[in-house]
Order: sequence, then C-alpha cells, then structure tokens
Amino acid sequence: MATLRLGDTAPNFTAQSSIGELNLHDYLGDSWGILFSHPADFTPVCTTELGTTAKYKPEFDKRNVKMIALSVDGVESHKEWIKDINETQQTEVNFPIIADEDRNVSTLYDMIHPKADNSLTVRSVFIIAPDKTIKLILTYPASTGRNFKELLRVIDSLQLTAYHKVATPANWEQGDDVVVSPAIATEDAKKIFTKGVKEIKPYLRMTPQPNL
Ligand code: BEZ
Repeated sequence: MATLRLGDTAPNFTAQSSIGELNLHDYLGDSWGILFSHPADFTPVCTTELGTTAKYKPEFDKRNVKMIALSVDGVESHKEWIKDINETQQTEVNFPIIADEDRNVSTLYDMIHPKADNSLTVRSVFIIAPDKTIKLILTYPASTGRNFKELLRVIDSLQLTAYHKVATPANWEQGDDVVVSPAIATEDAKKIFTKGVKEIKPYLRMTPQPNL
C-alpha cells in the first residue's frame, strides 16, 4: 500500500454501507466528497460528530459536497447506532456510513495507525475533488472530535482557489480579503483583480475576495 498524498487519485472501492452497496467514484459523480473515518460505533465523540455532519447537510449541499463516513463495524451495527444518533443529536443521519468490517477501505486509505490502535480507524478526513483527486488529508486522534466548520471553510477555500488565481490566508473565512497568487506579477494582478490590489510587500499582495 503506497502512502496517499495530495493530488493522488482517491482509490476507488465498492463497499457495504448503511444505505446499501456503495462504489465511491460512482457515488460521488460530479460532486466533491468528504470521506471520514471514526474509531467505532456507539462511542460518544463519534456520535456527536455524525450528528453534526447530519445537521450541516444544507451547508455541504450548497457546496456540492457529499459526506461519507466509515468505521470497521458492520451494517446492522451502523443501523442501530444511527437510531441513537438521531435520538441524541436531534437529527436524521442523511449520508452513508461505510461498514468496513474487512478493513479493505481502511487499508487502502491508511486509516488504521497501529501505534494509536491496532484495529480501529483513527479520525481521518479526505477531501476529494470532482476529478477524484485528493485535495486535503487530515488525521485526528480518537480523543479529539473534528471541527466540521473547518471542513466547510477548507471547501470554500478549495473551491475559490480552483477558479481564481488566489490563495487564502491564515484564519480566512468567506468574505475576507485573499492573497494574490505568487505566480502573478503585481501589474498583471491589478488588471485581473478589478476590486483592487494592495501591495504590502512585493510577495504579499491582498485583494478582496473575487467571487463575491
Ligand atoms: C469516541 O468516539 O468517543 C471515542 C472513540 C474511541 C476512543 C475514544 C473516544
């Protein structure tokens, strides 16, 4: 198994899930995807994470993102646990949870880190673009629940920078100024970014977010 890196094609797979058999590339179609693993069903942090994911569905939908969760428990366990998530988090789980009992997907995506836990998956996140390339990889320990607002923020940055020659600075959020790509000369930037370019240093040029 080769280490997955940014820019690699997300390995395709067919697996059982809480909504039936799922082929990753077919399921994603032209959408962006977030494939995220959690250690086990019926665990507290995971319960809050999946409840939060369900509640954020309108935000993911707006950005054309499909969420796919995964753990190494089976389909029947997932279905029972979903009832608990719906009850305790006051939501309806509205995305598939892969049942990776044979560890096929976890192995493909290197989601088991034996020194953290020999058999359970860590909290991995893979953001996959519509062309199926991997755009972001995150790994959190079991004891730290993820920040789903951060995933939305990264998606906003990825979608903005895919279409405009800009990058997003530290703590950037929708509406904040962005950084002009270092590859563009300031004179050219002034023609491209009609809202204005502020040159703080020759390598540090800011412009209002161009797609608003
Ligand atoms: C949890 O999701 O709550 C959890 C899972 C494994 C270890 C620690 C916490």
